[in-house]
Parts: sequence; structure tokens; C-alpha cells
Amino acid sequence: MDSSRPIGVFDSGIGGLTVVRALMERLPLERIVYFGDTARVPYGVKSVATIEHFTAQITEFLLQQDVKMLIVACNTMAAVAADVVRRLARDIPVLDVIEAGAHAAVAESKGRGIGVIGTPTTVNSNAYARRIHALDPGVRVYSQACPLFVPLVEEGWLDHPVTRLTAQEYLKPVLAEEVGCLVLGCTHYPLLKPLLRDVVGPGVRLVDSAITTAELAAAKLQELGIASTQAGPTAYRFVVTDVPLRFQTIGERFLGRSLGVVEKVEW
Ligand code: DGL
Repeated sequence: MDSSRPIGVFDSGIGGLTVVRALMERLPLERIVYFGDTARVPYGVKSVATIEHFTAQITEFLLQQDVKMLIVACNTMAAVAADVVRRLARDIPVLDVIEAGAHAAVAESKGRGIGVIGTPTTVNSNAYARRIHALDPGVRVYSQACPLFVPLVEEGWLDHPVTRLTAQEYLKPVLAEEVGCLVLGCTHYPLLKPLLRDVVGPGVRLVDSAITTAELAAAKLQELGIASTQAGPTAYRFVVTDVPLRFQTIGERFLGRSLGVVEKVEW
């Protein structure tokens, strides 16, 4: 396979840019096509059937862009529709944030319980617990849906009393179990890391699934011999289903740099 082909990364909206950011840092030579379904976000409160349908459409689109690897950056899609992606992708390797997060959580838990926070659909699917138990059947997993975090992050309230109070309330039951680590099981949560670190205290490690996904992608590209070796300016494409006014500003906050041109998809 031609190693200069891009990696396809996708999410329900702009949240997956946290994964793109981690990929840009870890794999600076890779080309990336990012797809964000901004017209239909949020997915975290939708049914499994709807998410599967949308996920299939996005996968087909990215496969047409001749990607060499697919990364499901959205925890909600990874939780309920990763099989759909793998079936359509055939021999194109597929990675997802839950797989990466589960591995990192088991490594970090050090014999203590694991806390997982995510959207209601992710938590109800029990996908993190299943993946974690496949790796370590004995570990205890405590999950908590945090539906208010996505709008709070999109509002830019990353260090705001309302967000702090919300986090304290959501995390109370998980922290009562004295977990060793907390998996940030949603694309938006890495932006809350400084605040969450304060709330959970020094005894609980935060597992950022964006960073662990980038690590996993680097290892997989090496293993398959398809890591890019092309130096020079890297091409990044950002494709969305709608371009809301706030997209550019919010997107840049997630990405940590300017977005450049954002294309609206022609299905
Ligand atoms: N990208 C979603 C996730 O990681 C959060 C936003 C949504 O609900 O669509 O679960």
C-alpha cells in the first residue's frame, strides 16, 4: 500500500479534532482527512440504529478518499458502530478511541478500579467495560454519563464555576469507589483536563483517549509498514456536513492551531 495515502479520521462533529491534534503531534508526516458530521451532531443522545446508519455513510465517504487507515475518533460511534466500520473497511485497518482508551486504562489502573465518563449512549452501551474486561476480567469499572460536558466545552467554559460544580456532582459516585484512573471517554473531555485534574485530585490518573489513539496509530502504521516517510508540508483536509458560524473558532480551540479551509461535503 502507498504510505503517502491519508489517514481518515471521523467524528460526530468537531470534537474529534482533539484526536487530530494528538495525531499531528505524534505523526507529523501523515496526511489526514477529517470528517465531522456537524449537521447531525450530537450523536451521544441518539439511538444505536441512527448512529450505525450515519457511521456507514461517513465510512463510505472516507473510503472513497483512498485512506490507508480509518480512525473512529468519536467515542459514541466507537461504542455502538465500530463493527459497521470494520465490515465496510475490509482490509483497511480501523482503530477506535475505545480500543485505545481501554488498553491505556488497564495499564494505568494498577490493581484499582477504573472510572469511565462519556455520553449517555457510550455509557449505556457498556462498550468501555466490555473492552476493559476483555483485557483484564478482574478489574472493576465504574461508568458515569456526563451529558452536560459537551455543551459546556462548546461554550468555551473550560475553567468556569458552573463546569467545576457539574464535574464535582457527576464524579462524586465514581470517586467514592476510589478508582485509580478515569477514562475521558468523549472527544470533548480532553479540553477539561486541567479542571478535571483538580476535581479528581492527584491520586487518580486521567486517561486521554486522544493521546492513546495517536500512540496506537503510530504503532499500527509501523507494524504494517505504511507509516509516511514524506517530509515537507503536510496536507490536512477538514470536511464537514454543515459549516456553522462558530465552527472555525471552536474548531481552532480543539485543534490548538488554525484550521485553514473547511470544505462542506457533497454527498
Ligand atoms: N463525539 C462525541 C463522543 O465522543 C461527543 C459529541 C456527540 O454527542 O456527538 O462521544
